[in-house]
Amino acid sequence: MGYRTIVVGTDGSETATRALRTAARFAKKVDGQLILVSASGPIGFTDREADAVLAAGADAVRRDGVEAETVRREGDPDDVITGAAQQHEADLIVVGNVGMDRAGRLRRGGVPERVAIGAPSDVLVVNTASPRTPDLPDPLYRRILVGTDGSPTAQEAARKAFDLGMMLGIGVTVCYVAGDRLLGAIALEEAKKGKPRGLGVHTRLVEGEPAEQITALAEQEELDLIVVGNKGLAGARRVLLGSVPSEVAARAPTDVLIAKTVDRTVDDLAPGHGGIVAVDGRRLAVFKADDGSLVVLNPRCQHMGCTVDWNDAERTWDCPCHGSRYRHDGTVFQGPAKKDLDPERI
Ligand code: FES
Repeated sequence: MGYRTIVVGTDGSETATRALRTAARFAKKVDGQLILVSASGPIGFTDREADAVLAAGADAVRRDGVEAETVRREGDPDDVITGAAQQHEADLIVVGNVGMDRAGRLRRGGVPERVAIGAPSDVLVVNTASPRTPDLPDPLYRRILVGTDGSPTAQEAARKAFDLGMMLGIGVTVCYVAGDRLLGAIALEEAKKGKPRGLGVHTRLVEGEPAEQITALAEQEELDLIVVGNKGLAGARRVLLGSVPSEVAARAPTDVLIAKTVDRTVDDLAPGHGGIVAVDGRRLAVFKADDGSLVVLNPRCQHMGCTVDWNDAERTWDCPCHGSRYRHDGTVFQGPAKKDLDPERI
């Protein structure tokens, strides 16, 4: 799951500046490239104003030791942000949470929520009203909370939370919210099986309404980053009931990472490319050669068990946690891992 390219939108407001500086600290931590995006248009900024906002944003993150690329595009802010993320193949979009409250959503849909729905990547929603400031010293986060209901999408969110915990060097609490304690205990055991070696994982079993319980637990235990899967963000159900991910993002006292959990399939891979794909409920690292033949691998890194990610520029499998790298056929060529990726069959 490496976060190689991180897009953050800015309009120069206080909330956007807080999101921007959190994005810069995050980019620094995970060694990602930061891209600042601003929208211009007939009812918004002129091109010159948008350029001034971008220049001020680039200066602000430079003071934090991060060099950012800037992009100005014409259009609605949410379209501009998701469009830039698509164009730059971003792995993460960062937005402030202003406008995610329920009243704002029902009235017109806040920019952050519309970004979260249209995003081609994970989305970090920064709680810009929190007393925590981007000027706080490291660590950026102290502990991650991820909710699970045992479903494949929740397991994928847990996997991303584990990999992020390894990247940031912090522990993860996995929480199951439901009435059935036996099923909950099984789901938590299942989730723990996917954890990389050496990662501190706690589990919690709570009852009640999921979004309420997840945010309450974060508050009680001072867990400062919540990870949720994005399933349920789109469609009629969101309008009628409010989905768990958007409810969590709207009410959380912390930052929330909405993890894109919908998997690609082998058919989605173009010849000459690789990717993590879903096959019969399994997640596999698959490289499709120019002649259509497949190299199928277990994506668990042989160092401590994080999930490798496809690096399209160099046609390698790279581990985001400690930098191990493997050729397209799974042969390790850079440690700390010492073994090749395990082959798999489909
Ligand atoms: Fe350490 Fe992959 S888990 S390099």
